[in-house]
Amino acid sequence: MQVAVVGGGPAGSLLGILLHRAGLDVVVLERRSVEHVRGRIRAGVLEHPSVTMLREHRLADRVDREGMRHEGVVLSDRGDPLRVDFQGLTGHGVVVYGQTELQKDLFAAIEAEGVEYLDEIEELALGDVTNRPVELRYRRGSREETLLADVVAGCDGAHGVTADAVPRGVRRTYERYYPFGWLGIMAETAPVHPELIYARHERGFALCSMRHARLSRYYLQAPLDTDLGAWPDDRFWDELRRRIPPAAAERLETGPSIEKSLTPLRSAVGEPMAYGFLALAGDAAHSVPPTGAKGLNLALADVVDLAEVLLEAKDPGPEALQAYSDRALRRVWRAVRFSWWMTTVLHRFPDDGPFAERIQDAELALLRSSVAARRAMAEQYVGILP
Ligand code: FAD
Ligand code: DHB
Repeated sequence: MQVAVVGGGPAGSLLGILLHRAGLDVVVLERRSVEHVRGRIRAGVLEHPSVTMLREHRLADRVDREGMRHEGVVLSDRGDPLRVDFQGLTGHGVVVYGQTELQKDLFAAIEAEGVEYLDEIEELALGDVTNRPVELRYRRGSREETLLADVVAGCDGAHGVTADAVPRGVRRTYERYYPFGWLGIMAETAPVHPELIYARHERGFALCSMRHARLSRYYLQAPLDTDLGAWPDDRFWDELRRRIPPAAAERLETGPSIEKSLTPLRSAVGEPMAYGFLALAGDAAHSVPPTGAKGLNLALADVVDLAEVLLEAKDPGPEALQAYSDRALRRVWRAVRFSWWMTTVLHRFPDDGPFAERIQDAELALLRSSVAARRAMAEQYVGILP
């Protein structure tokens, strides 16, 4: 059976590895160069089940050696910190490990095991996905190529082309846009706190994260039309200090940023996640705002579900792929809800007024006073679904 995987980010790379190991003919088609995909800075947190899965597939050597195990996070409400003890509440933690590093590990396996990964492919066009074989046409350098596939996996992210192969009348998109983005920087400084700090503040949300002992990642809620040029590093550090707990602000080590970007926030799910001989996985199928740290984890979990369906069915076709879609969507919606909730509780919504602020006060008071509320949050953050 020939599988074409469109998109070679974390979802497409992992799927390529799993199917190749099982003996299927699989080709990963990626639009950008390997160097570009390897260098992209994105997510930073691996849930407990993602780490377990990577270990089961012998892809976690470096995650285990170099990842930072975190047993809790701090939620700060206008400067007042509350620690949520993941380990005590759930028996599990998360691992802080950059998507950049995970992508390097996946590339190492792809190269070592001979998975076919074609980068810099252009103008990919999908033929009719309801009939087999599905024809994929693309250009690589000066050559026009055609690939015939029994199954196509759309792993081409939020701006890919495969989702468009599902007709409008079949695919329904459920979405919510948030009226702000995240202004993020990376700096070669010591993280301000050993654990992540998610901070609610009247000036807007802030997040203190990290990649390792000398690499920090910070984000500020910012308007969608923010001009990066208007945010020199000093302004960023001053604003961050205002939004985080005073004790953390005093300790904050500042330095020149090595990256600065603005990410819009969106929740979106397209249903179904399969049509004909096409299945969608990862950001090609859904987007979540980064607040719950779910995007990368959802992409990995989709791929594991899809690989299982493709390997278990004798001749995987529309019925098996529909079963994948049904199974994945149950999991996806729970992560979409959690990311929406974290976003809604912690950000300042410019148009929502005092009622919404009082609701946020009550949400944070509940977390502070109720072990049950903290446990529910902790279970969802570490990714164990009771
Ligand atoms: P992607 O990583 O987007 O990979 C898709 C791949 O498909 C890309 O390599 C792309 O080049 C390729 N592609 C696209 N179109 C085509 C085409 N036509 N033909 C061939 N290839 C194509 N998540 C978090 O949890 N926390 C974060 O802090 C966070 N920050 C983010 C910041 C940014 C700027 C972005 C864009 C995403 C962020 N995410 C974050 C989300 C997380 O990175 C994604 O959920 C994750 O990358 C999903 O993996 P994926 O493989 O599904 O998609
Ligand atoms: C990071 C990003 C997130 O969205 C998040 O919730 C936690 C950490 C990060 O980039 O480090």
